[in-house]
This record gives sequence, structure tokens and C-alpha cells, in this order.
Amino acid sequence: MAREERPHKVILVGDGAVGSTFAFSLVQQGIAQEVGIVDVVKEKTAGDAIDLADATPWTAPKHIYSTDYSDAKDADVVVITAGAPQKPGETRLDLVNKNLKILSSIVEPIVESGFDGIFVVVANPVDILTHATWRMSGFPKDRVIGSGTSLDTGRLQKVIGEMENVDPRSVNAYMLGEHGDTEFPVWSYNNVGGVKVADWVKAHGMGEEKLEEIHKEVANMAYDIINKKGATFYGIGTASAFIVKAILNNEHRVLPLSVPMDGQYGLHDLHIGTPAVIGRKGLEQIIEMPLSDHEQELMTASADQLKKVMDKAFK
Ligand code: NAI
Ligand code: 2OP
Repeated sequence: MAREERPHKVILVGDGAVGSTFAFSLVQQGIAQEVGIVDVVKEKTAGDAIDLADATPWTAPKHIYSTDYSDAKDADVVVITAGAPQKPGETRLDLVNKNLKILSSIVEPIVESGFDGIFVVVANPVDILTHATWRMSGFPKDRVIGSGTSLDTGRLQKVIGEMENVDPRSVNAYMLGEHGDTEFPVWSYNNVGGVKVADWVKAHGMGEEKLEEIHKEVANMAYDIINKKGATFYGIGTASAFIVKAILNNEHRVLPLSVPMDGQYGLHDLHIGTPAVIGRKGLEQIIEMPLSDHEQELMTASADQLKKVMDKAFK
């Protein structure tokens, strides 16, 4: 059967807080007909598969099961959420060595299975792990995507929406750069109904410091949640299901993802967060947003930070 005619099949690698929430989002949103779950902890995947399937009488039929890497051979998408999460006080970049090691034990058997779909990387540091997945797999660049600044952009839309009292889905805004401490909001673009957030803030008697406060609040939101409850998973679980839906349904949707730089923003040889168009074939277009001089400096600094860590980790 041609790929387009087959039921949509997703393999999830990593059945922890993020992975199981992602799987639950697939169930809740009726995304994919077949979901195979792989983890080093087999018992957990077997239990989760039954528990998730228990939700299908109220959602839609779905075949959910515990599996192994060989099952990726005819999957449409492999989502990687396996990896250590941050402990309080750790940055995402601090995870690089241990999570690269975990990643290398995953990508090889997936490729060996004959998998010819799209990798979606979520584990942190996501930009570096996405680049590493591309390198390890030998896949073309359009078939390896990272969740990038999807979650951060959603957080920014939420904060601006609350401030302006509008639905966050009506907020046109992006966080770009590393999914991490050097990410930044694109204030030269970010707007609601065409009115720049920077102008709205001024019109409401506030200045630059309000924009700076929003930037910090969004960039620190993961730390805040991790300090309070130990992990973040509802936001990314939902966002990554949204990414997978856009691929499976060939939506040609623009999302802020971790994609390969080939001269955009003057950057090369790394993956970083920028708007990109995705569909059934994976990455279809990379969008280089027009940035102010200051934003371009922030993008360069964010890439420099990633490069510094990558150079050490890939040695
Ligand atoms: P967790 O510790 O709850 O789950 C990780 C899972 O990976 C565990 O079930 C573990 O058994 C599994 N695992 C470890 N080594 C494996 C291997 N070699 N093969 C297969 N499975 C393996 O962690 P959590 O909270 O689910 O976080 C997972 C990752 O997602 C972390 O790196 C975290 O930083 C990242 N994350 C990324 C976000 C994003 O926006 N990109 C947002 C939130 C978390
Ligand atoms: C987040 O931003 C920790 O990357 C994770 O929630």
C-alpha cells in the first residue's frame, strides 16, 4: 500500500513525562491510527499502552502498543523524547553529553530498521540533538526536524494574550534562536491584529522594560515550572503532537522549529529555531524572518552559544 493510503503510524521513543504526555495528546486529538512506544523500561511502555488505549472509547480508535526499534521500518514519524530532563539549577545545555549518548543508542537501530519517514526530536538540548540526529542518521536535511522554539513561542503568545486580553492563538509572535537561555522574542514583528506589541505597550504607558520583563518571563518559564513541580510536559506534549499532526496531514504549516541553517541569518552548520513550513515530506521551507540589527545580534549570539557547546560535544 502506498504511504499516503496507509494508516498514519508514529513511533515514540522515550516514555517518560514528555513522551507519555505526547502520546496522550495524540489520543486526545485523534492524531495517527497506530502508535508504537519504545523505552528502555519495557514494563512502563506496556502499562502505558494499555492505559492510553483505555482512553480511546471516548476519543477515537487507535492501536497503541509497546514495541522495539525494528517496528520503525514502516513508520511515518519517529518522535524522540528519550533523554535526561533538567534537574533544578541545570540548563538544557548541561544535558548535552548524557543525552547525545542516549541519542546514539536510538538513531542507529531506527535507521537500521529501514525507517524512511521523518524524525521529530524533542529531547534537550533540542537544537544540538536535532543536528546530531541528522548527522548520525545520514538522512537528508528535510527529514529531521526539532521542536525548536515551539513551546517558547506558545509561552510568549500566552503571556502577550494575557496582557492584551486576547486569545493567545490570535497573537502573532515568535521566540527564535536556541530553545534555551539565549532565545529571544522578535519585537520588530510580534503583533496582535497588526499592532506591534511594542507599540501597544507604549500606548498603555509602559516602556522597553515591559518587553524585557516578558522576554525574561518566557525564557525562565521552564526553570520556574521545574522548581515548582520537577518537570515540564503538558506544553511540549501538546506542541509536539501539533507538529506531528502538521506532518501527517500535510498541512504546510508554519511553525517555529529547529531546522538546518544554510546561510539564513548568516549561519551555517547548526540547527536553530526559526519559522519553517512542514508537511508530509518533512521540512518544506525555511523562513528567514527580517530581523532588526539588535535581533540579528541576538540570533548570532544564540548560534555562537550552540556552536561553542557543539564543538566541545562533537570532538
Ligand atoms: P523523563 O526522565 O520523564 O523521561 C525520559 C525517558 O527516556 C524515560 O522513560 C527513560 O527510560 C527514557 N530513556 C532513557 N534512555 C533511553 C534510551 N537509551 N532508549 C529509550 N528510552 C530511554 O524525562 P522527560 O521529562 O520526559 O524529558 C525528556 C526530554 O525532553 C528531556 O531531555 C527534557 O529536557 C526534554 N524536554 C524538551 C522540551 C522541548 O521543548 N523541546 C520541553 C520539555 C522537556
Ligand atoms: C521547557 O522549556 C525544559 O525545555 C523544557 O519546558
